[in-house]
Amino acid sequence: MAIGVFDSGIGGLTVFKSIAEHFPTLDIYYLGDTARVPYGNKSPETIINYSIECARYLISECGAEAIVIACNTASSYAVDIIADRFKVPVTGVVLPGSEQALRVSKKGKIAVIGTRATIRSGSYRAALETMSEIELDIYENACPLFVPIVEEMMTESPIAELAVKMYLDDLSKKGVDTLVLGCTHYPMLKRTISKLYPQFNIVDSSEVIIEHLIKSGLSTEGRGLRKLFFTDESPAMEMLRNELAAGAPVEIISLP
Ligand code: DGL
Repeated sequence: MAIGVFDSGIGGLTVFKSIAEHFPTLDIYYLGDTARVPYGNKSPETIINYSIECARYLISECGAEAIVIACNTASSYAVDIIADRFKVPVTGVVLPGSEQALRVSKKGKIAVIGTRATIRSGSYRAALETMSEIELDIYENACPLFVPIVEEMMTESPIAELAVKMYLDDLSKKGVDTLVLGCTHYPMLKRTISKLYPQFNIVDSSEVIIEHLIKSGLSTEGRGLRKLFFTDESPAMEMLRNELAAGAPVEIISLP
């Protein structure tokens, strides 16, 4: 079976890596829309249109039979729309991340960090409140500087530390115990975040999505093919391709 994984850029490679490691025989095609990243500052209509174009490419050009949206921004707006339009199973990252947050939080003080569009959508709050049996304290912070820091490979720099402090300090003062990385770029900042705020249980959707895919009954039979598509060059692309995608072949394509 072939699946298509897409993100606005390179962040979703954290999800790609996790899926590729867990399902070695699955054929996996990754599309990073690097020409149009970030999605997180765009309107819902634009995010939905771009997401449809990514899914269409993976389904019609690569033969993907299921889609994983490895982008919280696109997952917040487009899971049902893509499932409806293309009639294939679609897994986003918001539900798996929310489930895991509820599992690991001891005090029910959960913070979600993500792009402006993800936070504005309220997708995590809605999922957390629907699934929780207890009253939660939910905090939501948009962290728009994190994506460029990751795309510029500055994840362990003084700038990264400053940005992490700027966005997370008030969450730590409020006694948050669980921090949901509601953007697939953010796992690359995990070391800096844990160094500064070791008290946070960090939820990384690239780790928890596997359980969802297993439950969805996905057939993992295939030839273990891997291919990456990007819509433009990106500074971190080569490095991350080797680090997260075992040097899988890359092609630059145009959308739509
Ligand atoms: N990786 C995307 C996400 O998970 C964020 C990057 C962007 O703004 O496009 O939300």
